[in-house]
Amino acid sequence: MPPRVVLLCGSPRPKGNTRQILEECAKVLEREHVEGEIVSLAGKRIESCTACYRCNKEKRCHLEDDFEPIMNKVKEAQGFIVASPVYFGTARGDVMNLLQRLGMVSRSGGGWMAGKVGGPIAVARRGGHTLTLQEMTMFFMICDLIVPGSTYWNMVIGRNPGEALNDKEGMDTVRHFAGNVARLILKLGQ
Ligand SMILES: Cc1cc2nc3c(=O)[nH]c(=O)nc-3n(C[C@H](O)[C@H](O)[C@H](O)COP(=O)(O)O)c2cc1C
Repeated sequence: MPPRVVLLCGSPRPKGNTRQILEECAKVLEREHVEGEIVSLAGKRIESCTACYRCNKEKRCHLEDDFEPIMNKVKEAQGFIVASPVYFGTARGDVMNLLQRLGMVSRSGGGWMAGKVGGPIAVARRGGHTLTLQEMTMFFMICDLIVPGSTYWNMVIGRNPGEALNDKEGMDTVRHFAGNVARLILKLGQ
């Protein structure tokens, strides 16, 4: 079985820029013989952590929404790329809801996120990419994932669906990043 990367699409728009960017990243992964599965948050309900700490005992999140199937996919994968649209200068709320709950369940379950390879991607019309990347990077670092670099920060410019693909430098950056994720997974023999 080839290694697998979950590419989380944090946009509510099923065919938006975030999705199109991740489709390009998935093509790069496939070229490197790494499987890429895009998991979209469009139409899904991901509530915010309620700090009940039941995951400490139960090793799962007891909130009844669309979290658990996504968690299981991430848990089984060797890589995890998270792409979010920028909303008012920060990541979309649902994306952070998911990452915070994944972090809690992973940490309470012995830290199963550790050693996975991946990182964040931000897409916006004009501004707020860097803070959005920082927000998401906080999750990757505290959960002991391995984050490769690229030729620039993983930010892409675009407003209406399709526009992001015209940002050549942004797309080259994220394609290169996806290649690094694949090569690193293969080198680590995961
Ligand atoms: C609620 C909301 C807030 C937004 N805030 C920003 C912002 O702070 N900066 C920016 O450049 N674009 C902002 N945008 C534009 C989106 O980031 C942009 O359209 C992005 O391409 C959407 O990605 P998607 O097509 O995958 O949904 C905002 C859009 C929405 C709906």
